[in-house]
Amino acid sequence: MVAALTPPYPHAVDPEKGTVSREIFVSDAVYRDELERVFGRMWLFVGHASLIPNPGDFFVSRMGEESVILCRDRANAIHVFLNTCRHRGMKVCRYDQGNTPLFTCPYHAWSYGTDGQLVGVPQNDKLYSGVLDRAQWSLIEVAQMRNYKGSIWATWDPEAPSFIEYLGDAKQHLDFALDARDGRAGGSEVICGVQKWVVPSNWKFAAENFLGDTYHNVSHRSVDLIGIGPSARSGVKGRRDPYQEGGYDIWVNYPEGHGLHSIMRAPANDYIPAFRDNPAIESYYEACHTARKARLGEAARLVALTGTVFPNTSYHGNQPRSLFVWHPNGAMSTEVWRFFLVDADAPAEVKVFLRSYYMRYSGPAGMTEQDDMENWNYATAASAGTIARRYPYNYQQSMNAIQHNDPVPGRVSLQITEENARNFYRRWQDCMNATSWSVLR
Ligand code: FES
Ligand SMILES: [Fe+2]
Repeated sequence: MVAALTPPYPHAVDPEKGTVSREIFVSDAVYRDELERVFGRMWLFVGHASLIPNPGDFFVSRMGEESVILCRDRANAIHVFLNTCRHRGMKVCRYDQGNTPLFTCPYHAWSYGTDGQLVGVPQNDKLYSGVLDRAQWSLIEVAQMRNYKGSIWATWDPEAPSFIEYLGDAKQHLDFALDARDGRAGGSEVICGVQKWVVPSNWKFAAENFLGDTYHNVSHRSVDLIGIGPSARSGVKGRRDPYQEGGYDIWVNYPEGHGLHSIMRAPANDYIPAFRDNPAIESYYEACHTARKARLGEAARLVALTGTVFPNTSYHGNQPRSLFVWHPNGAMSTEVWRFFLVDADAPAEVKVFLRSYYMRYSGPAGMTEQDDMENWNYATAASAGTIARRYPYNYQQSMNAIQHNDPVPGRVSLQITEENARNFYRRWQDCMNATSWSVLR
C-alpha cells in the first residue's frame, strides 16, 4: 500500500484534451515515484526460459532499476530473485549468465542455493549460534512469476492480477511473437545473445513508440530505400503486401494500458514471397505459412507487428521477431535489452540467416534502431529545456476517429491513431495515483 499522490500527477496527462506534460519525461521526482508505483507493481518481462535450459542455469536481468537473477533450481523450478545479499546487500551474482550450484556472496561469503535458500554462513556455529534463523534470510523472491510460452514475467506485488488477466485481450497479439511460425503454440528460443545498450532517453518515449506509432515511419525513409528487410532488397519493407485484396491495419488498445499495431491480412491469405534471393529460406517460410493457415484458419490472417505490454515491454511479432525491455535507468536514461526469437526447431540455416538480419536491423548498430534512438534522445533532451518544459506535447491525432469493436477484442482503430498513446498515459497516470492494485483492476 502506498500513499495517495498529490498533484502534479492528476494534471500531467489530459487524455481528453490530448496533452501530456513534458515534465513526466524529465522530472527526477516523477521518475522516483514511477519506480515504486509502476515498476514496483506491474508485471515486467524478465527473460526467457531458453536462456536457462538446465538446472543451475541463471541469467541476470533487471526489474526497474534493480538487478534480479532468473534461475532454474535443482528441481527444475524457475525463480526470480533480487540480486542482493541479505547480509549487507552485495550482489550475490556478478555474471551475466551461467550455471552454478550456489550463489556465494563475494563480501562475506554467505551462500544461497538456486532455490534461494540461505545454505552457507561462514563460522555459523561460532558467530550466529541460536540467533540466525536461516529460513528467514533467503534471497528475496518476486511475489508472482509466470512462464508464458517460454517468456518469463514477474511482479513484486502479491495483489497484482494473474499475468494472463493482466495481459487481457492483448494476448493473441503477443502470442504471434511467441508462437511457432507454423502456428503451434510456443516453441521459441532466444538467439544472438541479448543486446543491451543505454540511450539518453526517458523509457516512456520508447514504450510509446511501439504502441503503434506508424506515423513516424518517415524517419526510417533512408533505411527503407536501401533495403534492410529480410530479403535485403530495397523497397521491400514498404511493399504493403498485407493490404492486397482486403487486408488492413488495426491499432488496438486495452484498459490495462497495452497498445499495439497488427495487420489483418487479405482473406485469401496467400503466401507472398519475401526471400527471393534465398530459395531455402523462402521454402521454409512458405511451408510455415501453409501449415499455419491450415492449423488456424481465419485466425491465421492476424499478423502482429508491434506492441507494448504496459509498462515497458515491447515486441516485434513478425520481423525482427523479438521482445525488448525499456529498463528505467534514470529520468533521462534507458537501458534497452533486446531478446531475438526464433523457432527452436527451425533449420540451422534459417537461424544463421535471421541472426545477421537481426543485427543489421536492430540494436545499437542496427540501422532502423539508430533512427528511433535519434528521435527519442533529442526529444528527451529538448523536454528538459527551461522554457520548453513549460509546454505540453500534442497527442490529438485521430481523437475523433471512430473506434471499432471488431474484428478483434479491444478498442480498435482502422486508421493511425494516438489513442493508443493517450490510453497508455491514462493508465500510467492511474498507476501513479493508485494506492493499491485493487483500484486499478
Ligand atoms: S554482504 Fe553478502 S555476505 Fe556480507
Ligand atoms: Fe521506428
